[in-house]
Amino acid sequence: MSNNASLSRQILVTSALPYANGSIHLGHLLEYIQTDIWVRFQKSRGHECHYVCADDAHGTAIMLRAEQEGITPEQLIAKVSEEHQADFARFGVAFDNYHSTHSEENRAHSERIYTALRDAGHISTLDIEQMYDPVKGLFLADRFIKGTCPKCGAEDQYGDNCEVCSATYTPAELIKPVSAISGATPEVRTSTHYFFKLPDFEAFLQRWTRSGRVQPQIANKLQEWFESGLNEWDISRDAPYFGFEIPDAPGKYFYVWLDAPIGYLASFQNLCDREGLDFDSYWKADSTAEVYHFIGKDIVYFHALFWPAMLEGAGMRTPTGVNCHGFVTVNGAKMSKSRGTFIKAQTYADYLNPEYLRYYFAAKLTSRVDDLDLNLEDFAARVNSDLVGKVVNIASRCAGFIKKLADGKLSSTCAEPDLVARFIYAGDEIAADFEAREFGRAMRRVMELADEANAYIADKAPWVLAKEGGREQEVIDICSVGINLFRILLVYLQPVVPAMAEQARLFLQVESLDWESRQHVLKDHVIGKFKPLMTRIESDRIDAMMAASKEVLEAEKQLTGQAPSVDSASPLADDPISEEIAFDDFVKVDLRIARIEKAAYVEGSNKLLELTLDLGGETRTVFSGIRKAYAPEALEGRLTVMVANLAPRKMRFGVSEGMVLAAGNDDGIYLLSPDSGANPGERVT
Ligand code: MSP
Ligand code: ZN
Repeated sequence: MSNNASLSRQILVTSALPYANGSIHLGHLLEYIQTDIWVRFQKSRGHECHYVCADDAHGTAIMLRAEQEGITPEQLIAKVSEEHQADFARFGVAFDNYHSTHSEENRAHSERIYTALRDAGHISTLDIEQMYDPVKGLFLADRFIKGTCPKCGAEDQYGDNCEVCSATYTPAELIKPVSAISGATPEVRTSTHYFFKLPDFEAFLQRWTRSGRVQPQIANKLQEWFESGLNEWDISRDAPYFGFEIPDAPGKYFYVWLDAPIGYLASFQNLCDREGLDFDSYWKADSTAEVYHFIGKDIVYFHALFWPAMLEGAGMRTPTGVNCHGFVTVNGAKMSKSRGTFIKAQTYADYLNPEYLRYYFAAKLTSRVDDLDLNLEDFAARVNSDLVGKVVNIASRCAGFIKKLADGKLSSTCAEPDLVARFIYAGDEIAADFEAREFGRAMRRVMELADEANAYIADKAPWVLAKEGGREQEVIDICSVGINLFRILLVYLQPVVPAMAEQARLFLQVESLDWESRQHVLKDHVIGKFKPLMTRIESDRIDAMMAASKEVLEAEKQLTGQAPSVDSASPLADDPISEEIAFDDFVKVDLRIARIEKAAYVEGSNKLLELTLDLGGETRTVFSGIRKAYAPEALEGRLTVMVANLAPRKMRFGVSEGMVLAAGNDDGIYLLSPDSGANPGERVT
């Protein structure tokens, strides 16, 4: 029976709900891995701990994405939910429940909370003027409006700020504004919006913020927000919108961020209904259960202001803690599509063991909000030296002798009780580090212990004794100590590398590696056959993963109709030359001279032109993201270069059968042309 049972806590833990219109990438994974480690640790300690999450399925972006793919939003979110869950499973992120904000539980809780807030006088209405797309028939959020910057004249800037001169403005100030969705000129229209009166909760939030619920860095940030004043929060959106209709306001929908955090409740409700848990004992105002939200630093406002205020206003308990982490950078820079450092979970897992990443993140995580750099060289070095070189090494040095000399059976007495006791005792300190989310400190302590274990074995040199003859028992005793030390370390590592720990558990032939099990020294115990529990990271696997990542991003750009090799977020000049390829790889690309027979605007796209290309007899249709640089008539009759053997891609507007080549930077796009004399269909080498 574990000591902790008497102190058993009831804990509910969430990670932020990922948007249902994109793939899980390594940035997301920092959060899900951090949370999962903490949850596994709590479970290992014997606490009742539930970990729930869901897809964040509502909003305009999801509606438009579904439309672009020619499917319903329901189909899109079902597909993405499956992908997300498969990604999480590969990384060992073990939710007790994964739900969706587009669910009946969420509708019920959203309506209930809204109604409670309204009845308590915390909802107001106001008529506001907003840009409206007359072609699509919808109101446009700022990021769906583009136009010329009123300050510096840069074209193609978003509705709220200019990427060139950093000016901020309202969409109404843009010169020649267009809807980024249809290309139409937006109109100003008036509509009634519903607001949550956040200022009603200022005093409550001030107190809440100072009661140890958030990290000090976050408390400071909140203080700044209080000083600049809280505003009422617009929680409604007009139809068409993919979300829940507001009960007493036909045609008005809850803004996605209103029902997103309520999705935590919905997912937990769904779990409670399935497993017979008591929802209210966790969420009633005087609940003694603990509730923790793990989030990234970009969504603090929602979780540390709106959410506690909503719960308070609805007469519910507020979170025990909002645990905020920083952002993942790769090789020292923001993850970037143009640098190919925007790595999807799936791409990573196709090439590298997910537990390498779990360990690396753990080794670098603190309880603070700082960003975390995934330096790929350091990543390989760290994992190889710590997990493989230190931890696995202990077992691999000892297991063979136990098998050979004792038929797999460990000694009946412990030869180094003090050493083993120190390892067990270290568990208290390591547990405190896990509890405080100081995973890096916990991992450093575990690796110090691993060093000690290795030093002990090296010092005793069982391989030397084994050769001397007549000293078998000593060898078995030493290696039995080694195996016991290894087992204790795996107890500490289990929350971080659960799959490796499970392999170790099978090898050790023990029931469990739970925290308390470390107390139990294995004597007269038969272990299984040792198999390498983790292999070294080979740097060519990392290279292959990075190359695959770039391919995935290229393919996506094609699908979304962006210009080839042009990423507006980052000028190409910044882009390092890609990795070397073999000549054989190069000749696979069949480049041909093409004559642009016809060029036409594509209805509904402000990026694409539809090109009809003559390849010297054969005709191809290609959708190319060059609209902002060329008028169709200027292209007709022109020669250019195309990739003729690119697999056809289905786009929203039709099938694109290849790609034309262009250079590009922030100022423009420049289609390649051959010198005079070249003819359509000729191969370019
Ligand atoms: N749907 C909202 C959250 C709603 S919670 C009620 C959302 N989704 S998200 O998919 O954009 O992000 C999910 C989580 O991943 C957020 O906590 C976000 O901070 C985190 N991260 C996204 N990119 C990240 C990095 N590059 N690095 C670390 N965390 C990152 O926000
Ligand atoms: Zn500007």
